[in-house]
Amino acid sequence: MKKTAFIILSVIVLNSFFLQTALAQEKSIAQKVDSVLKLMTLDEKVGQLNQYNDDWTATGPMTIDTNKVRQIQSGKVGALLNCMGTERTRKWQKVAMQSRLKIPLIFGQDVIHGYKTTFPIPLAEACSWDLDAIELSARVSATEASASGINWTFAPMVDIARDPRWGRIMEGAGEDPCLASKIAYARVKGFQGQKLGETNSVMACAKHFAAYGAAIGGRDYNSVDMSEKLLWETYLPPFKAAVDADVATFMDSFNDINGVPSTGNKYLQRDILKGKWEFGGFVVSDWGSIGEMINHGTVKNGYEAAYSAITAGCDMDMESRSYTNNLAQLIKDGKVPVALVDDAVKRILTKKFELGLFDDPFRFCDPEREQRELNNPDHPVAARDVARKSIVLLKNQNHLLPLSKNTRTIAFIGPLVKAVNQNKGFWDVDVPGIDSSYVVSQWDGLQHKISNKVKLLYAKGCSIDGDNKDGFTEAVNVAKQADVVILSIGERRDMTGEAKSRSNINIPGVQEDLLKALLATGKPIVVLINAGRPLVFNYTADNAPAILYTWWLGSEAGNAIADVLFGDYNPSAKLPVTFPLSVGQIPIYYAHFNTGRPALNDNNRFYTSSYNDLSIYPKFEFGYGLSYTTFQYSNLQMSKKKMYSNDQIKVSVTITNTGKYDGEEIVQLYLHDVVGSVARPVEELKDFRKVKLAAGQSETIKFIIDLEKLSFYNQQLQWVAEPGKFDLLIGASSRDIRLKDSFELVE
Ligand code: BGC
Repeated sequence: MKKTAFIILSVIVLNSFFLQTALAQEKSIAQKVDSVLKLMTLDEKVGQLNQYNDDWTATGPMTIDTNKVRQIQSGKVGALLNCMGTERTRKWQKVAMQSRLKIPLIFGQDVIHGYKTTFPIPLAEACSWDLDAIELSARVSATEASASGINWTFAPMVDIARDPRWGRIMEGAGEDPCLASKIAYARVKGFQGQKLGETNSVMACAKHFAAYGAAIGGRDYNSVDMSEKLLWETYLPPFKAAVDADVATFMDSFNDINGVPSTGNKYLQRDILKGKWEFGGFVVSDWGSIGEMINHGTVKNGYEAAYSAITAGCDMDMESRSYTNNLAQLIKDGKVPVALVDDAVKRILTKKFELGLFDDPFRFCDPEREQRELNNPDHPVAARDVARKSIVLLKNQNHLLPLSKNTRTIAFIGPLVKAVNQNKGFWDVDVPGIDSSYVVSQWDGLQHKISNKVKLLYAKGCSIDGDNKDGFTEAVNVAKQADVVILSIGERRDMTGEAKSRSNINIPGVQEDLLKALLATGKPIVVLINAGRPLVFNYTADNAPAILYTWWLGSEAGNAIADVLFGDYNPSAKLPVTFPLSVGQIPIYYAHFNTGRPALNDNNRFYTSSYNDLSIYPKFEFGYGLSYTTFQYSNLQMSKKKMYSNDQIKVSVTITNTGKYDGEEIVQLYLHDVVGSVARPVEELKDFRKVKLAAGQSETIKFIIDLEKLSFYNQQLQWVAEPGKFDLLIGASSRDIRLKDSFELVE
């Protein structure tokens, strides 16, 4: 053996020995991290701050590497993304184990609404307002992903979105900070499970920090111009909820806010997140977003971009290579103190320890477990349950739904009836080497449901887009033979999602014309609208007797839809986002201010805050959704009418199922601060309960009003509750307020 080789080998052996002894002793994770950090060279430290894409799928502009193996062997990569499956992750982890310090890689993946089992898109799930179901969906996704080598999901997306033109509205929980915060909390808990380190847990990632959903004009990646007050009051709460749920990581957003790109925003990352909120995890950039600061025009080159990001608090560079290429030099030049890099490395190593990767880098690479969990029979059951809870009944004239199982002939028409992959929605995961084709189409779902005495007819009618009406005649003929028609129309799944902003959000193509042709037959028609965002469909809304908004429901779409169509599940979902009447109303959301000249109704246009040519009301409001049964609200009681700041008011209300079917109601509590030092929204959701009632059953449900629910950010951005009158509104939606009262906060 040559002398130099011998020396190198000795150093490696020695370092490995030190590492092992450093780790073997009973030490806290912080001490272990310090011991590892002491052994690291500057290059190795910088290496931990890089996340590279694996060679196949890309979710952004990709840097092709010919020497990835060498880079990982020399400790230049801390994490990989888009690398899935036990075989593949084991392969790369083995390469990492050839590095000097054997620091394991983390494998990250966009597990947004399922892994092998696809769940409804997040916006659909949010319609359930069912926090247990939402948590379970994340839990199942984490169980599958972690069994398949993944330790980190880039979810949940907790961006508030009030603009359905923005394609990524589908990834969040809608427009409201109260509902979205509760959902953010549930999703983080679901992904991370009992605690990091369990083999079925993955790190969650609250993204995109911050205000990405407020992109001007609904155009993806666009700038955001926003007051701090709006930021704090509406856009930051779901992120804070994620921190409260102990989320392991955060991701920056692509947008700038008031001219400062989030990735280089020190106020957001160091002052708020790591400072005020004491977030102990690490922050990853969005794909390439460090380098993209050059395009934003806030830095000249990669060197300045790396400087801007690391000083702002971005710990890991996803794919821009700005850290790889510049950080060491920035330190050598004395521009960046090594302490900043150390802090970032420590945050990342801490998570690697918490995940148990130092104990066993291959603990997520067990092929038997992978097979077992990816074929776990409980998972489709969970997916079906969440899917049916996500379907919103928008209209049901003359109780057309639920359909009788004795219906003799059903015509199932439309371009989405036999579609398979469409049902998966935008962010499905295609696991290489694993058959992830399992999806129950709407056609199959219906067939499973009906007996062989029922005749099921089919016609496609038309395509999702395009103007070809050749299929109309066949569709009309099929409809004429049926007792009832079910028409499945909507978007293509890739019409919403990242980089899928649209200025026209009508139902595409000639699908509404097809409905018109079918309505002319006089047959009763149930319309299923499949979409990733709120669409505009006034013709359908005004003319179809029954409408179910089915979104994209995932693997169990067909079964879930059939359950709802035939009443095996009574729809309970309510909209977490306003459905506009027209694109011209956007942005439109329920928690708006009254203004100095409120338009009290659509006949009140004379110098009021209204449109001359358009209603001020949405088509379907926030919180709206019907059931096959009806609920009566009564007996609103408050424990007191005057509340001191250290006090609480107990509110109770009785809900009675007055219809024929068992069902669930989402009871919503709104408050209105009548006079504030700054204007307050006309109403704000502060709490809700989902209550399950058998036909005829009543239940009294209770809410607590405390100071927190009365507080807001004043002009000085202090979180305060101001004495004065508050209206209490209890309703079945933000417009369907059933009971009202008021109380006073006294000093
Ligand atoms: C998206 C992120 C995603 C990342 C990795 C980006 O383009 O904005 O949400 O996690 O790609 O796929």
